[in-house]
Amino acid sequence: MNARIIDLPKIMDPRGNLSVIESLVQIPFEIKRTYLIYDVPGGQVRGAHSYRSQVEFIISLSGSFDVHLDDGSEKEVFSMNRSYYGLFVPNMIWRSMKNFSTNALCLVLSSTLFDEKDYIRDYELFLKERKSLREG
Ligand code: TYD
Repeated sequence: MNARIIDLPKIMDPRGNLSVIESLVQIPFEIKRTYLIYDVPGGQVRGAHSYRSQVEFIISLSGSFDVHLDDGSEKEVFSMNRSYYGLFVPNMIWRSMKNFSTNALCLVLSSTLFDEKDYIRDYELFLKERKSLREG
Protein backbone atom coordinates (compact mmCIF):
# COMPACT_ATOMS: atom_id res chain seq x y z
CA MET A 1 0.00 0.00 0.00
CA ASN A 2 3.13 2.19 -0.13
CA ALA A 3 2.93 3.09 3.54
CA ARG A 4 6.34 2.54 5.03
CA ILE A 5 8.60 3.06 8.01
CA ILE A 6 11.34 5.59 7.30
CA ASP A 7 14.45 5.45 9.47
CA LEU A 8 15.76 8.89 10.38
CA PRO A 9 19.43 9.77 10.61
CA LYS A 10 20.62 9.21 14.15
CA ILE A 11 23.59 11.34 15.14
CA MET A 12 24.98 9.55 18.16
CA ASP A 13 26.66 11.71 20.75
CA PRO A 14 27.70 11.15 24.36
CA ARG A 15 25.79 14.39 25.10
CA GLY A 16 22.57 12.81 23.72
CA ASN A 17 21.42 11.65 20.30
CA LEU A 18 19.94 13.81 17.54
CA SER A 19 17.63 12.92 14.63
CA VAL A 20 16.58 15.22 11.80
CA ILE A 21 13.62 15.51 9.40
CA GLU A 22 13.76 17.87 6.41
CA SER A 23 11.09 18.45 3.76
CA LEU A 24 11.77 16.39 0.62
CA VAL A 25 15.00 14.96 2.09
CA GLN A 26 14.22 12.27 4.67
CA ILE A 27 10.49 12.39 3.90
CA PRO A 28 8.94 12.53 0.40
CA PHE A 29 6.83 15.68 0.83
CA GLU A 30 6.95 19.29 1.92
CA ILE A 31 5.81 19.88 5.51
CA LYS A 32 2.94 22.41 5.71
CA ARG A 33 1.69 21.64 9.23
CA THR A 34 2.67 19.76 12.35
CA TYR A 35 0.43 18.69 15.19
CA LEU A 36 0.73 16.71 18.41
CA ILE A 37 -1.49 14.09 19.99
CA TYR A 38 -0.93 13.59 23.72
CA ASP A 39 -2.70 12.90 27.05
CA VAL A 40 -4.72 10.17 25.33
CA PRO A 41 -6.80 8.34 27.97
CA GLY A 42 -6.32 4.56 28.07
CA GLY A 43 -8.36 2.68 25.47
CA GLN A 44 -9.13 5.74 23.32
CA VAL A 45 -8.84 5.62 19.52
CA ARG A 46 -7.71 8.62 17.47
CA GLY A 47 -7.84 9.31 13.78
CA ALA A 48 -10.29 6.79 12.38
CA HIS A 49 -10.51 8.39 8.94
CA SER A 50 -8.77 8.84 5.60
CA TYR A 51 -7.49 11.91 3.78
CA ARG A 52 -8.26 12.50 0.11
CA SER A 53 -5.00 14.32 -0.60
CA GLN A 54 -2.97 14.77 2.60
CA VAL A 55 0.06 12.55 3.13
CA GLU A 56 1.72 12.42 6.53
CA PHE A 57 4.62 11.22 8.62
CA ILE A 58 3.84 9.94 12.12
CA ILE A 59 6.47 9.70 14.89
CA SER A 60 6.33 8.57 18.48
CA LEU A 61 8.35 11.18 20.37
CA SER A 62 7.70 9.41 23.66
CA GLY A 63 5.87 6.27 24.80
CA SER A 64 4.15 4.02 22.30
CA PHE A 65 1.02 3.53 20.18
CA ASP A 66 -0.10 1.46 17.21
CA VAL A 67 -1.10 2.80 13.79
CA HIS A 68 -3.63 0.64 11.93
CA LEU A 69 -3.73 1.17 8.16
CA ASP A 70 -6.24 -0.15 5.64
CA ASP A 71 -6.22 0.57 1.90
CA GLY A 72 -9.60 -1.08 1.35
CA SER A 73 -8.11 -4.50 0.59
CA GLU A 74 -4.98 -4.86 2.72
CA LYS A 75 -4.49 -4.06 6.42
CA GLU A 76 -1.24 -3.42 8.30
CA VAL A 77 -0.37 -2.46 11.87
CA PHE A 78 2.76 -0.52 12.81
CA SER A 79 4.01 -0.23 16.40
CA MET A 80 5.50 3.19 17.03
CA ASN A 81 7.81 3.43 20.01
CA ARG A 82 11.05 5.19 19.00
CA SER A 83 11.77 8.76 17.90
CA TYR A 84 14.38 7.79 15.27
CA TYR A 85 11.86 6.40 12.80
CA GLY A 86 8.43 7.36 11.55
CA LEU A 87 5.59 6.02 9.44
CA PHE A 88 4.90 7.56 6.04
CA VAL A 89 1.18 7.29 5.24
CA PRO A 90 0.00 8.05 1.68
CA ASN A 91 -3.38 9.61 0.96
CA MET A 92 -6.53 7.48 0.62
CA ILE A 93 -5.56 5.10 3.44
CA TRP A 94 -7.94 4.51 6.36
CA ARG A 95 -5.86 5.05 9.50
CA SER A 96 -6.56 4.64 13.19
CA MET A 97 -4.26 5.13 16.16
CA LYS A 98 -4.78 2.90 19.18
CA ASN A 99 -3.16 1.39 22.25
CA PHE A 100 -1.53 4.63 23.45
CA SER A 101 0.73 4.24 26.48
CA THR A 102 0.18 6.70 29.35
CA ASN A 103 3.12 8.94 28.39
CA ALA A 104 2.61 8.71 24.60
CA LEU A 105 3.47 11.81 22.59
CA CYS A 106 2.70 11.56 18.87
CA LEU A 107 4.00 14.05 16.31
CA VAL A 108 2.31 14.23 12.90
CA LEU A 109 3.94 16.07 10.00
CA SER A 110 1.41 16.85 7.31
CA SER A 111 1.68 17.83 3.64
CA THR A 112 -1.37 20.16 3.82
CA LEU A 113 -2.89 22.86 5.96
CA PHE A 114 -5.93 21.73 7.92
CA ASP A 115 -8.95 21.24 5.66
CA GLU A 116 -11.99 19.35 6.93
CA LYS A 117 -13.09 18.77 3.30
CA ASP A 118 -10.00 16.58 2.79
CA TYR A 119 -11.27 14.10 5.41
CA ILE A 120 -13.29 10.98 4.70
CA ARG A 121 -14.77 10.07 8.08
CA ASP A 122 -17.22 7.41 6.88
CA TYR A 123 -15.64 3.99 6.22
CA GLU A 124 -18.24 2.95 3.62
CA LEU A 125 -17.67 6.21 1.71
CA PHE A 126 -13.90 5.58 1.92
CA LEU A 127 -14.36 2.11 0.36
CA LYS A 128 -16.53 3.61 -2.38
CA GLU A 129 -14.01 6.39 -3.22
CA ARG A 130 -11.13 3.89 -3.07
CA LYS A 131 -12.96 1.58 -5.47
CA SER A 132 -13.61 4.35 -7.98
CA LEU A 133 -9.92 5.34 -7.75
CA ARG A 134 -8.89 1.75 -8.54
CA GLU A 135 -11.31 1.51 -11.43
CA GLY A 136 -9.99 4.87 -12.66
P1 TYD B 1 -9.08 15.01 13.93
O1 TYD B 1 -8.11 15.08 12.82
O2 TYD B 1 -10.47 14.52 13.61
O3 TYD B 1 -8.47 14.12 15.11
P2 TYD B 1 -8.35 12.55 15.21
O4 TYD B 1 -8.51 12.04 13.85
O5 TYD B 1 -7.02 12.31 15.78
O6 TYD B 1 -9.40 12.06 16.13
O7 TYD B 1 -9.15 16.41 14.63
C1 TYD B 1 -9.86 16.61 15.85
C2 TYD B 1 -10.35 18.04 15.89
O8 TYD B 1 -9.26 18.94 15.84
C3 TYD B 1 -11.27 18.38 14.72
O9 TYD B 1 -12.35 19.13 15.23
C4 TYD B 1 -10.44 19.25 13.84
C5 TYD B 1 -9.40 19.85 14.76
N1 TYD B 1 -8.10 20.01 14.07
C6 TYD B 1 -7.70 21.28 13.68
O10 TYD B 1 -8.39 22.29 13.88
N2 TYD B 1 -6.49 21.42 13.04
C7 TYD B 1 -5.70 20.35 12.79
O11 TYD B 1 -4.60 20.51 12.21
C8 TYD B 1 -6.14 19.05 13.19
C9 TYD B 1 -5.31 17.82 12.92
C10 TYD B 1 -7.35 18.92 13.83
